[in-house]
Amino acid sequence: MKKIGWIGLGHMGLPMAKNLSKAGYDVKVWNRTLEKAKGSGLPYVEDVEQLLDDREVIITMLFGSESVKEVYKKIFSSGKNISGKTFIDMTTIHPETAKEIAEELLKRKADFLEAPVIGSVIPAKKGLLTIVVSGDEEVYSRHSDIFNILGKEIFFLGDYGTASTMKLVNNTVLGNILATICEAVIFAEKAGVNRETTLKILSHGAGKSMVLDAKMEKILHENYETHFSVNLIHKDLSYALDLSQRKQNPLIITAVSRELYNSAKANHLGELDFAAVLEVYKKLSGIS
Ligand SMILES: NC(=O)c1ccc[n+]([C@@H]2O[C@H](COP(=O)([O-])OP(=O)(O)OC[C@H]3O[C@@H](n4cnc5c(N)ncnc54)[C@H](OP(=O)(O)O)[C@@H]3O)[C@@H](O)[C@H]2O)c1
Repeated sequence: MKKIGWIGLGHMGLPMAKNLSKAGYDVKVWNRTLEKAKGSGLPYVEDVEQLLDDREVIITMLFGSESVKEVYKKIFSSGKNISGKTFIDMTTIHPETAKEIAEELLKRKADFLEAPVIGSVIPAKKGLLTIVVSGDEEVYSRHSDIFNILGKEIFFLGDYGTASTMKLVNNTVLGNILATICEAVIFAEKAGVNRETTLKILSHGAGKSMVLDAKMEKILHENYETHFSVNLIHKDLSYALDLSQRKQNPLIITAVSRELYNSAKANHLGELDFAAVLEVYKKLSGIS
């Protein structure tokens, strides 16, 4: 079985690495906060560079572009020979970052696949993610076994940058729908309809969506235990807005919803699940 080095044991990275280990892959992990690696139950290394010694495939699942660049900087400056290895980044990053990393790796005769995921912690645990992949098709075919363990629907999208772009497109819909649902719930409450009734009716009406299904309980009980954090959706919408600026394409609704998540961050809700944007609406509407 392939020897895999897994970098990043956050909400998504840990269950994904565990799924590969359970499927029989030889998985060794590294995490910036070493305690998480120690507590993962998986073999770990103390320095990320050690993964380059014997791992054939190195997978990163980090916060965003800056963290991915930081880790690759360590890899490139390690002086170790990485030719012939395959690197897969599953983080949601800016498409320009994906292109830059690809260029650096190809220069060093290593392979690279950009493979961000759609679906949150529960699909990650169950191996039911949707994965969008860009890169060389032959490299993709060689490693499709890995994607088939981690995900259920896999889409190969060709050139570098395309998968990350698609992921950002998806997350504009995700962030905007959740903000709209929270807006509607607070509107209904102010107008005298209780939250449970509103959510139930929305789930049989215009609000019916995977987003509402996934977040209904969180919104109802104001349980913001993190699956997908405010910080992450704010990062993704910021990348989407940057990309749209570069393409001279207006993202009007996304610009507004990014500011709602920005406000959530300003109110110390950044680490919580992005359903906590409900608290921003409550504050704006004078609901305590
Ligand atoms: N959560 C979701 O529902 C979801 C769904 C789809 C896609 N995604 C995407 O998947 C990625 C991971 O999400 P997540 O929820 O697992 O995030 P997370 O829980 O915040 O975990 C982030 C990981 O990145 C590491 N990290 C951050 N900055 C770093 C740096 N400078 N150097 C090294 N490591 C660094 C963290 O290490 P420490 O432990 O040391 O902080 C942690 O392991 C993100 O790009 C996110 O947008 C998330």
